[in-house]
Amino acid sequence: MAQGNVVLSGNRATGRLHLGNYFGAVKNWVDLQDKYRCYYFVADWHALTTDYDDTTHIADNSLEVLADWLAAGLDPERSVLFLQSLVPEHAELHLLLSMITPLGWLERVPSYKEQIRELKNRDLSTYGFLGYPVLQTADILLYRADFVPVGQDQASHLELSREITRRFNRRFGDVFPEPKALFTPTPKVPGVDGRKMSKSYGNAIDLADTPDQIRAKCRSMFTDPTRLRRTDAGHPETCNLFAFHELVSSPEIKERVARECRLAQIGCVDDKELIADQLIAFLDPIRRRREAFAADRGELLNILRKGSEQARERAADTMARVRAGMRLDYEWPEQERLGE
Ligand code: TRP
Repeated sequence: MAQGNVVLSGNRATGRLHLGNYFGAVKNWVDLQDKYRCYYFVADWHALTTDYDDTTHIADNSLEVLADWLAAGLDPERSVLFLQSLVPEHAELHLLLSMITPLGWLERVPSYKEQIRELKNRDLSTYGFLGYPVLQTADILLYRADFVPVGQDQASHLELSREITRRFNRRFGDVFPEPKALFTPTPKVPGVDGRKMSKSYGNAIDLADTPDQIRAKCRSMFTDPTRLRRTDAGHPETCNLFAFHELVSSPEIKERVARECRLAQIGCVDDKELIADQLIAFLDPIRRRREAFAADRGELLNILRKGSEQARERAADTMARVRAGMRLDYEWPEQERLGE
């Protein structure tokens, strides 16, 4: 593992990853592996904040996420890949941080009210859901992370993490570096309906999708709303379809499609087939690698177990510093030391 600055990030265990997760975060994580000491974790406890009513899929989802990561190029030899619930220090630090976090800070996080509005079919008036960003802060601080590579949607969470960090350090000494967000320089990834790609909107293309599934989704894609007839000129700059060319097509194809679209030489129906071909070609090697990884459940579990042991070493070191800073480090008489 590379030395120097520590990078930490994670995905919630809510299901398979899609192109938005890939281009918005995971692709960047892959590239960071050789530059930093990278910790990437599956946030299975975070999945509970919204899925507490039906927990039956969380454990499976954790393995699905790991299979997606490995297929995308995260490497357990170069990065620490681990599972949140296997490192109980996350819960300990979460508890301690919760004591110093004002309620008003949490109620002000924009995604808090937004999610309560959007996910109407779930009761999110729980203690755990309000505390989501405190747990996220614990995830980050436990590894004394310098950088947190995430999508723009996490900006307000990161801002809050930095505020909690300053508050802790001011009271208890400089235990933590202030974690900096490392935003992914990615064009925003639309879903097939033109809204942001999101699992909960049902508009996502998953890394694990088969060629047939990809083609069917491409045929249902929204296109340029101002191009009503085949003979109308199109506008690639604003067309949802073209956004997918920007992600996966070669410069030659992008140039040709843009030109022919503006001249009404290629129709949207043909372009949907073309973008399907490009997406299938792009995702095919990822899907094949994924199938191989997903077939060996025992190996996936072993990767998480080994990574979590490594993660715990750093977590334990951090917690010793936290307890010392908070004066919770009792000096036990030698022979009665607890837990040894
Ligand atoms: N909230 C993040 C998301 O929804 C997932 C997450 C949990 C996370 N803990 C984190 C990301 C710590 C970065 C660091 O994508």
